[in-house]
Amino acid sequence: MKIFVDTAKLNEIEEACSWGVVDGVTTNPSLIKKAVDALKEKGKKVEMVEYIEEICRTVGKGKPVSLEVISLKTEEMIKEGLLLYEKFNPVADNVAIKIPICTYQPEATQSHYEGLKAISKLSSQGIPVNVTLIMAPEQAILAAKAGASYASPFAGRVDDLIRKKLGISSNKEEYFNFKLLARIIQAKLNKHLDSSLNQQISTLYQAEQITLDLEMANDQGISSGVELVKQIAQIYQIYRIKTEIIAASLRNAQQVREAAQAGTDISTIPFKVIEQMLEHPKTMEGIKLFSADVVPEYRQIFAK
Ligand code: G3P
Repeated sequence: MKIFVDTAKLNEIEEACSWGVVDGVTTNPSLIKKAVDALKEKGKKVEMVEYIEEICRTVGKGKPVSLEVISLKTEEMIKEGLLLYEKFNPVADNVAIKIPICTYQPEATQSHYEGLKAISKLSSQGIPVNVTLIMAPEQAILAAKAGASYASPFAGRVDDLIRKKLGISSNKEEYFNFKLLARIIQAKLNKHLDSSLNQQISTLYQAEQITLDLEMANDQGISSGVELVKQIAQIYQIYRIKTEIIAASLRNAQQVREAAQAGTDISTIPFKVIEQMLEHPKTMEGIKLFSADVVPEYRQIFAK
């Protein structure tokens, strides 16, 4: 699995790249806003073109940097995609253009397929496109059909939606055990099946709020963000689709582990979550013990 850093903060990108584990970077307008706000807080002025050039240079050739368009209509998205690509790709030959899978809003004039058309147009010109805001496997199928190089399912935001439906108000950065939840619901269903084998399945589903649980604990058949990644990986594998999956909107280390197990090609990870991936209390304890046990004879080897 490749690791991308999900940030537009140059200091984080520089630091993470120095660790030797970074294969690319993803940005979006919200991440750019965070980076700009942080710099402004320090009284620094941001020259955006130079700033993005520096990101591309730091990440380096062969390691994609995703830059997102801001318009919602096909023609504008294509223009912006071409502009971003022509401006920044020459720096290190590593730019991918991020296009939303769908920009439809019921109250506005853009149609459902503006994103799709922009994705296929730019992809057909050989520009790597990263399709963003994917929340369902069907969207990932269309992204791949349109020729996208990358499809980015937003695992954390799907989790947010399911947690909201369930009325669970835990911190969105904390790991939530969706697998355990599924087992609880299954156990409830099994218990009922055991005691009422003669009942019609429809009656069973209405019983004990099983229907309610099943409806609440998923989004259109997707029981968690990681499950979304897994289903897309399964579909892409069946049809030998070349589009690479970028598991995105990951908020904790366990989610990264599960995305890897689900078969994602790439995980794009916030800087502080990469730090979290390194932490373990027994590692901290172990390092203290090793340090305390260093005998002078051994230390002498390292003396100049
Ligand atoms: O890569 C997508 C990511 O930046 C969105 O993350 O945590 O805002 O859902 P989040």
